[in-house]
Amino acid sequence: MKPYNQNFQVNRVNQNLIEVFRHEPPEYLKEYIPLWNFNFWMYMETDRHFVNTLGNFLESIEQTIIDQYEPVHDSSTGLGNNTVTSRSHHYNLFRETAPVALHLHKIIKSQITRYLEQTNPKIFQDPNFDPHINCWFNVMAPGEEIKSHTHNVTNPFISGHFTVRCENSYTYYIVPYTRDRIEMTNNIGEGIIFPSYMEHGTSIHQGNANRISIAWDLYYNKDDTFDTIKNNVEPVDLK
Ligand SMILES: [Fe+2]
Repeated sequence: MKPYNQNFQVNRVNQNLIEVFRHEPPEYLKEYIPLWNFNFWMYMETDRHFVNTLGNFLESIEQTIIDQYEPVHDSSTGLGNNTVTSRSHHYNLFRETAPVALHLHKIIKSQITRYLEQTNPKIFQDPNFDPHINCWFNVMAPGEEIKSHTHNVTNPFISGHFTVRCENSYTYYIVPYTRDRIEMTNNIGEGIIFPSYMEHGTSIHQGNANRISIAWDLYYNKDDTFDTIKNNVEPVDLK
C-alpha cells in the first residue's frame, strides 16, 4: 500500500487490519479540516487448489447466468450488460451449493466475523443485526478495467473482494475529500473487506487470460436492503 502524499495516515494494526485515517490535523486548523477514518481487512487464502477450482467453477456458470437473467445495470463498473456483473441483482453465489462454493461461503463468513470482532464487536449483541449478503463475481477480459464506483453510501455497510484469477493488475481505493488513491496490487487468493461507501476501481487488466474476482455486499438486516435486491440476499450466520 503506497500513499501518494501525507493527506492521510496508515496504521497497520496487525496482519489483517489496516487503519487509514486523517484525524490529527494541526491545532490551528482542526475546526476546518475534514476528519475521517476507515479500516481495511486483508487476508490471503493459500489453498491454491481451492482457488483454481473456484475459478473453474465460476467459468462454468458464467454463461448460464448471462443467458438466464436480464441485465439490470453494471453498477457503474463500465463492464457492460453482457456480463455476470450486470446480473448481480438476480443471482447470489451464496445460493450455490457446490462444495467449492460452500467452502467460499465459509471463508467469507469467517473473515467478516473476524473483521467485525476487531472493529465493532458490540454488533454481535445487537438484536437488530441480522446480516444478509449479496455475492456475485466479475469477469474482465484483457484490456478491460473496472471503473471507479461505490457500492452505495448508506446500505450495504461493508463490502469485499476476493481475487480468483489475475495478472498484473491492481485495485485502487479513493480516500474521502482529498481523493488520494490507495493502490493495492491484486494477488490470487487475496481478499479484502472495506466500508461500502469507499470509491474504488481497478487498473486496466494487462494479462492474457480473463481476470476473475468475487465481490459481495453485507447488509445490516433485510430491511436495510433496496427493493431491487431484497429478494436476492441471503442470511449469513456469522457466529
Ligand atoms: Fe466494487
